[in-house]
Amino acid sequence: MQPSPATILELASDLARKAGAIILEGVSRPLDVSYKGTEANDPVTDVDKRSEAAIAEGIRARFPDHRILSEEGTTGGDNPHWRWIVDPLDGTVNYAHRLPFCCVSIGVEHEGRIVAGVVYNVLADELFAATRGGGATLNGAPIHPSVTEELRRALITAAVGPWEAAGRRFERARGLAPHVQAIRELGSAALELCYVAAGRIDGMGGATLNAWDVAAGMLILREAGGQITDPYGDPFMVDGKHMVASNGRLHGALMARLHDHSSEVPPKPDQPATEQGTATGQATGTVPASPSPMPASTTP
Ligand code: IPD
Ligand code: CA
Ligand code: CA
Repeated sequence: MQPSPATILELASDLARKAGAIILEGVSRPLDVSYKGTEANDPVTDVDKRSEAAIAEGIRARFPDHRILSEEGTTGGDNPHWRWIVDPLDGTVNYAHRLPFCCVSIGVEHEGRIVAGVVYNVLADELFAATRGGGATLNGAPIHPSVTEELRRALITAAVGPWEAAGRRFERARGLAPHVQAIRELGSAALELCYVAAGRIDGMGGATLNAWDVAAGMLILREAGGQITDPYGDPFMVDGKHMVASNGRLHGALMARLHDHSSEVPPKPDQPATEQGTATGQATGTVPASPSPMPASTTP
């Protein structure tokens, strides 16, 4: 018998909280930091790896045959129907700098559709959750996007992959900036999608993202009543990499502005995109412990 979305969500929530305890413990001690690839803009800490190991262990204990796609490379079984898409710590650059904006993200796919998702904002103890068709919640209470209708009143965030050309992200922001209230780059795509879902951010642009950045957040946003599409307005797929997310009301205007200024929007691929793997760690180093645990994140 197939597990129900509610059963899956319960396990995902438990595992996100377990991983959250590992993340919290790392806040008050030195971290081991290594770097993927050759540059310093894609770090991974010992906490990312321990968080991933704890989540994978919990999935395997209950569903040994379910597949796992997780950022740091852990895999699971070979069940063609079920896949857990895990980001054990979204916002690693923030976390390594002791900036309190990061989360655990777990999305669960059944036969190609995300059916359950949780995003746990560890430092604020906020658990965003959704099941397909069941609505979205924050710590158990229903959430909805903002009602902002004008772009000039909108707070927009940008989430771009570490390897996107630095100049390109600023070009895009420069084109959009005169038309919106403000633009931010917050550093955790999964949490930003939940902030759009909860009405704290009005819209968001994402480029060169991976499936683990968006799997849970895209369901939570849709279930809350928001919209997420590819940059052309077509339905966003979990491995689509480029996306526009919004409260729904602003979607057309935001997409038009991004297109307007964006020679950067790449041509629509003929073939569906596939997930990317990760490079292995190279250099290592440590960062000092923060004097005290990071305070809970606040919202404007
Ligand atoms: C990153 C964050 C960031 C996004 C990057 C991701 P990580 O994930 O989601 O907001 O802009 O593309 O790589 O590396 O902190 O898990
Ligand atoms: Ca991520
Ligand atoms: Ca990560």
